Amino acid sequence: MSQSEARIALNEFAAKISEEHLGPLWDNLGHMITLKPKHEVIPYLWKWQTIRNYLLEAGPLLALGRESERRVIYLQNPSLLKDGKIGYSTNTLYVGVQLLLPGEVAPSHRHSQAAIRFIIEGDGGAYTTVDGEKTYMERGDLVLTPPWTWHDHGHEGTEPVFWMDGLDVGLVKTLTGSFFEPYHENKYPLSGPPDGSVARYASGVRAISERKRKGYPSPLINYKWSNIKQALEGLERLDPDPYDGYAVDYINPTTGGSADARIGTTMQRLTPGMHTKAHRHVHSAVYHVLEGSGYTVIEGQKFEWEQGDFFVVPPWLWHEHVNTGTGTVHLFSVNDRPVMEILGLEQEEELRDNNGQQEVARTFEPARLSK
Ligand SMILES: [Fe+2]
Ligand SMILES: [Fe+2]
Repeated sequence: MSQSEARIALNEFAAKISEEHLGPLWDNLGHMITLKPKHEVIPYLWKWQTIRNYLLEAGPLLALGRESERRVIYLQNPSLLKDGKIGYSTNTLYVGVQLLLPGEVAPSHRHSQAAIRFIIEGDGGAYTTVDGEKTYMERGDLVLTPPWTWHDHGHEGTEPVFWMDGLDVGLVKTLTGSFFEPYHENKYPLSGPPDGSVARYASGVRAISERKRKGYPSPLINYKWSNIKQALEGLERLDPDPYDGYAVDYINPTTGGSADARIGTTMQRLTPGMHTKAHRHVHSAVYHVLEGSGYTVIEGQKFEWEQGDFFVVPPWLWHEHVNTGTGTVHLFSVNDRPVMEILGLEQEEELRDNNGQQEVARTFEPARLSK
């Protein structure tokens, strides 16, 4: 049998077994097991002023209650909007921005998705309660609402408050583990004083009453910006990480692992003029610019950012960060690294060519959907 006759015979064979819903691995192996991570997720950037203005417009349009649950505008990666998909930020991560107006309550509920909040703007009068612990939220704070904990948000201040929500919506959907339950009242009953966990775990120490506590979820629900900033100032006395600058991971004080078991949270500080080397890794990340201005080169494309902007670093794409301003840059990010590490999937590679920096081929421009 010649080579082409063999191929025809194999194709006929494949067609025959497909009638029984059987497939030949020899034709599909390369699709199932790729040489490198393959995906459709594109890097993208959203401007803070756009999101903020639309949220303020949504304010009077949407009343908060059981119908709406939350007033959130979320980042829809255009590459994840096809085939009826509703577009998260990456395949695993969802990021939205939530607005709460003075006097409002976002009613109590719980879900199996992990959630983190990162406070962008507010007067300190807004709070979250997690299983009855109330914590006030100030700019730069990271607040955890671990999977299946009751949480509601309220606002006792006078100015609108905006925060970033990060949830592992895509991951939980893929793993078909989604559950949701509303609480039968708007507010879950409070237990203990506000910020009890902050008092027990402030500054890397723990109250002796907590000696026996270990495991997930993290007993600390609010990682105050003032503490994180102090840690980063301390790090500046050491050598920066070549790829991330001066950077810290938020951790669970009882395990040393990621603060949220599934969503990784990181804060990076770039000093003026700092230009990191490029690397790529399996985990994906969504960044929020807390302070400063600069750009990130992702796979040869330059993404210019300033305070408040958001951008996506998809899996296995080269990226490096640059501070072009005169002040310090603080970049907060959520990622799926804890999951990749637990599953043994995380890998990282450094760019060796061109002194570890990419050639910039083009600059990102947001694309409007034409209707
Ligand atoms: Fe929630
Ligand atoms: Fe990175």
